[in-house]
Amino acid sequence: MSKTRVAITGANGYLASLIRLYNADSYEFVPISHTDVDFSRPSEAGRFFEGLDFDVCLHMAADATTSHCEGDPEGTHRVNVESAIEIAKACEGRGRRIVFISTEQCFNAAPGEAPFAEDDEMGTVTRYGQQKAEADAWMRENLDDYLILRLSWMFGLAMPGVRPSPNILTNVLAAVRAGRPTPFRVNERRNMTYAQRLAGQLPAILSLPSGAYHFASQNGLTTYESARLVARRLGCTDAEVARLVLPDEETYAERPRDFRLASDKIEAAGIGLGTFADDVDLCLRDFGWPKA
Ligand SMILES: NC(=O)c1ccc[n+]([C@@H]2O[C@H](COP(=O)([O-])OP(=O)(O)OC[C@H]3O[C@@H](n4cnc5c(N)ncnc54)[C@H](OP(=O)(O)O)[C@@H]3O)[C@@H](O)[C@H]2O)c1
Repeated sequence: MSKTRVAITGANGYLASLIRLYNADSYEFVPISHTDVDFSRPSEAGRFFEGLDFDVCLHMAADATTSHCEGDPEGTHRVNVESAIEIAKACEGRGRRIVFISTEQCFNAAPGEAPFAEDDEMGTVTRYGQQKAEADAWMRENLDDYLILRLSWMFGLAMPGVRPSPNILTNVLAAVRAGRPTPFRVNERRNMTYAQRLAGQLPAILSLPSGAYHFASQNGLTTYESARLVARRLGCTDAEVARLVLPDEETYAERPRDFRLASDKIEAAGIGLGTFADDVDLCLRDFGWPKA
């Protein structure tokens, strides 16, 4: 039997390259990068997918840099919203499922209380969050068969062909390696998930019934407390933790952010997640980090 052809956009990005590495034997990936089609031109994005041979589209490309989205709202809107919608329309027109990668940032100023469930009202004060929330809402309103995965902040380390986006582990590791005191936010709570959980469970994820799902290992700690936990797991003494992991008490002091996602729905469907502390241990074990 021939393998499922998975068109994967942003194919050389962090999460897409990890997914391809982990699932190379299970699927025939059709990698799509900047050089194939530029998502700042939405009509070209739609045309490209109308002519492509694929069974399911994993749409991972985005301009996920918050400062780019604030600095170029129109250009990043074309990439993050308009192209995503054109790709979704092309998928729907051909009876193919789109898997859209959304984000916890849809909830960074939501009216309710964290942890947020899939149907909770969104609210976001960042352009990046607003753009993802707009595309996310369009998919839910207009498509019959889709998956939306709202990811927490993902973390991991570099592997051959995989270059991680900045994450809690690389940020703390950089502080520890350089011996450079680094501030981490006290007024922020978010979930942080080992990225291998996503890559390793792709087949089960692709089999989920149509709908939106939160994908996040649970975390009761602030970002500052999370960074302290990581530093300890990396082997720092209490004195080193105190010197290198500094409390940033200013950011969001006026309105602390808590945009943790509840993962009960996806866990009930059989997808394994854990806690942030579990995930740090899992990751360090995978990468052969000596025990603290
Ligand atoms: N990492 C996280 O913690 C996290 C959390 C929540 C959601 N997400 C979402 O997950 C997805 C993957 O994230 P990531 O961390 O792996 O991001 P990444 O490493 O920055 O990868 C994004 C990819 O998008 C492609 N891209 C950007 N602009 C493009 C354009 N105009 N035309 C074509 N391709 C374009 C880039 O392609 P080139 O390499 O060719 O430039 C890049 O490879 C994104 O949708 C992101 O919003 C990530």
